[in-house]
Amino acid sequence: MFFDHLELAPADPILGLTDAFKADTNPKKVNLGVGVYQNEHGVTPVLKCVKEAEKILVETEQSKSYLPITGLPDYGRLTRELLFGKDSALVSDGRAVTCHCPGGTGALRIAADFIYQQHIASRVWISDPTWGNHFQIVEAAGLKTERYPYYDRAAHALAFDRMLDTLEQASEGDVVIIHACCHNPTGIDPTPEQWDQIADFLARKKLLPLIDFAYQGFGKGLEEDAYGVRKILEKNSEVLIASSFSKNFGMYNERVGALTAVSATKEVGTNVLSQIKLAIRCAISNPPAHGEKVVITVLSNPDLRLMWEQELAEMRERMSRMRNLLAEKLKAAGAGDFDFITKQNGMFSFSGLTKEQVEQLRAEFGIYIVGSGRMCVAGINDENVDYLADAITKVVKGA
Ligand code: LMR
Repeated sequence: MFFDHLELAPADPILGLTDAFKADTNPKKVNLGVGVYQNEHGVTPVLKCVKEAEKILVETEQSKSYLPITGLPDYGRLTRELLFGKDSALVSDGRAVTCHCPGGTGALRIAADFIYQQHIASRVWISDPTWGNHFQIVEAAGLKTERYPYYDRAAHALAFDRMLDTLEQASEGDVVIIHACCHNPTGIDPTPEQWDQIADFLARKKLLPLIDFAYQGFGKGLEEDAYGVRKILEKNSEVLIASSFSKNFGMYNERVGALTAVSATKEVGTNVLSQIKLAIRCAISNPPAHGEKVVITVLSNPDLRLMWEQELAEMRERMSRMRNLLAEKLKAAGAGDFDFITKQNGMFSFSGLTKEQVEQLRAEFGIYIVGSGRMCVAGINDENVDYLADAITKVVKGA
C-alpha cells in the first residue's frame, strides 16, 4: 500500500482556526484568528469598487483564453506604481519586472523556487516571530532557514539592535525576508530612521532582501506603508518583492499577488524575468485572470480608484479604532496596561497572551486567537468589544 503509513497532519495554525470557529456553537463566539477584514457587522464584504469593476468585466470581457505566464503587462505596471510610486523610474525602465502570482503566498513560493533553481542563495533569514507559513514555503522550495530576533517581549517593541547583531552573522549572498509594513504577527514596524539603517545594513552586508508586502494601505496609508521598500531600493540594486491584493482589495479568494524582481540593469532584468517565467510555468503554468483584471480596471479608472482609496481608508481607520477601543476597555476592566497594542500597526495585535491563555479563551469564551497570541483586530466591533475585554481580563487575572 502507498498511503497506509500516513499520519493525520495537524490543522493549519491559522486557517484551521476558521474551521474550528465555524464548528463552535457558542452564540457569543468571536473570530480574531485569520487575517481577513471584517466590517462592524462581522462580515467580510466585497468592496464596492470591486463590484463595479466586475460589472464592467462581465460586459466587456471577450475571452477566457490563457493569460501570458507573467500576467498582463498593465497589471505589472500598476503593481509597480503602487510599490515604487507613480513617478519612479522603476515603473517602466525595465530594471523591475513583475509577474502575477496566486496571492502573496504564491509570490513567496515562486521567489523561493527561483532562488533555489537559479542557485542564487541557499540560506534565508526570517524574523522571529513571523507569519508561520514563511518557514514552510521557503523550506518546501529546498532552501535552509535561519531566524533573526525581531520582537522584545518585555518592552513590546522592535528588538532592533538584536536584529542587526544577529544578521551580522549572515553571509554575503544570503536572503533576508523583511515585512514591509504591518509586521505579521507583531504589528510592530521599524521607524523611518530604523528603515534607513536597515537599508544601509543590507547593502553593506550584500544580502538579498525578499520583501513581503501583503498589507500596503493597512498601516498608515498606501504611500507611507511603502517607505521601507523604497528606502531599501535606494541603497540596494537587487531586491525581490512579494506583494498581495488579497487584503487591500478584499479579494482573498481570487489569489491576486505579484512577484516583482528589481535588478541593477534592464538587461539583467530581462534575464531574471525569463527565469522567473520558467519557475511559474512549472508551478502553475500561468495565472488566473479574474482578480488581476479587477485590479487593472479599478486602478486605471479615476472614479473607481478614488472609491478604492476611500474604502481602503475606511478599513484601515476601523481597525485602528477597534485597536484603541480594546486597549481602553482592557484598562477599564482592570486587565492591566495594554497601551502597547495601540502602537502596533495594521491588522494584527500581538497581545502578549500565553498559549494557555489563548486556549482558555477559546474553550471557555469561544474567542479564537492564533496560538502566538496574535489577534486580528478586524474581528472586533462595538458589539463584542466588552465581552472580549471581560474575557481577556478574566484570563490574564487567572480567574
Ligand atoms: C494570516 O496571516 O492570517 C493571513 O495572511 C492568512 C494566511 O494565509 O495565513
